[in-house]
Amino acid sequence: MTTVMIVEDEPTPREFIAKILAKKSYETVEAETLAGAHKVLDQAAADVVLLDVTLPDGNGFTLLDRLVTEQPWVPVIVATGYGDIDMAVEAMQNGAFDFMSKPIDAARLLRSLENADEHVALHRELALLRRERRSGEYWVESSAAAMNEVNDLIGRVGPTPANVLLTGETGTGKSMVAGLLHAQSPRAEKACVTINCAAISEHMLESELFGHEANAFTGAGNKRKLGLMEVADGSTLFLDEISTMKAALQAKLLRALEEHVIRRVGGTKEIGVDFRLITATNRDIPKMVDDGDFREDLYWRLKVVEIKMPPLRERVEDIPALTGAFIRNLAPDYGKDVTGVRPRVMSALKSYRWPGNIRELRNTLERALLLCDGAEIDLAHILEEIRQTATA
Ligand SMILES: Nc1ncnc2c1ncn2[C@@H]1O[C@H](COP(=O)(O)OP(=O)(O)O)[C@@H](O)[C@H]1O
Ligand SMILES: [Mg+2]
Repeated sequence: MTTVMIVEDEPTPREFIAKILAKKSYETVEAETLAGAHKVLDQAAADVVLLDVTLPDGNGFTLLDRLVTEQPWVPVIVATGYGDIDMAVEAMQNGAFDFMSKPIDAARLLRSLENADEHVALHRELALLRRERRSGEYWVESSAAAMNEVNDLIGRVGPTPANVLLTGETGTGKSMVAGLLHAQSPRAEKACVTINCAAISEHMLESELFGHEANAFTGAGNKRKLGLMEVADGSTLFLDEISTMKAALQAKLLRALEEHVIRRVGGTKEIGVDFRLITATNRDIPKMVDDGDFREDLYWRLKVVEIKMPPLRERVEDIPALTGAFIRNLAPDYGKDVTGVRPRVMSALKSYRWPGNIRELRNTLERALLLCDGAEIDLAHILEEIRQTATA
């Protein structure tokens, strides 16, 4: 639920606005003075602020300044004197989200608050994605022959708007490549929007992707929610584990791809969307098509380009470089001075089959780092089943 702080010294307009907002199920907090408003902000207790400029203990713009620097995601709607264009301009230049002249028009205020809600939702989404991006995973270039085609495709397809289907076993780097493709595209200044289709229920997935109108279904809440397809407008949408998507949703996704429009759950309005789609799967989709479990027309839409990630056991020559990079990047996190692995460990790493591929290699080295107190990782620091392959 959105909490609106109403900063206004005159009781009549303040109470009038509070009443209107309460009817629309907004929470409200009222502040009569700047000091009172600052107290509310100390608790970060407002999602949106409606701000009067002339207050008994100072000018509302000082509050706007504070919000812009400390809580920039909080939209501020500035109430200006009737026809006071200069103040409206000043408010917008100082980072206000919107302005409106007093007396406040209820319909205009509600519209502005709706926009503010979307602004807040987008901001939250972005912050989440940025955090993921900061996770600090670096791409290690490959010299393996099995990666030639992958390397070539990444370079050639990355900058284009073509839809890409990434296939390969778990842990082969599909998610990482999705990030690389996005990073090379003209859409890179916006965040790549990612969702794992296997991670949530079909019903939730639909409302995550398409969004929903207020009260669209039980539990939808009384607020409209933007879908990820809208969030990804002008950017890239990465759908991981696409094979788990059910038939009904496959049909809706196909329509979005063909017609570039969607409808929110519970909505009637057609909304234009423009996203580049990257999908990934570790399952055999052509077989699923044969079995009637995946739409063939959708499959063709997804795989305008298919990039097949080879398993790690087919690119053994990359294991030393990957190992070196993981140790370099991870050792400082664990406060270790480890610089590498003993030769017999490298021989074990190169002969093991790696069913979990690069992810399993990374986890193995992370665990070894924890156990290792010297400069080099030894056989004792790796799991029995991997160690055994050294002598086998
Ligand atoms: N070329 C690479 N360089 C560095 N790390 C990689 C590379 N490919 C994969 N990884 C790492 O391996 C792990 C699994 O990769 P991911 O992209 O999640 O695989 P998938 O999506 O195919 O399951 C991640 O920790 C990732 O950082
Ligand atoms: Mg993945």
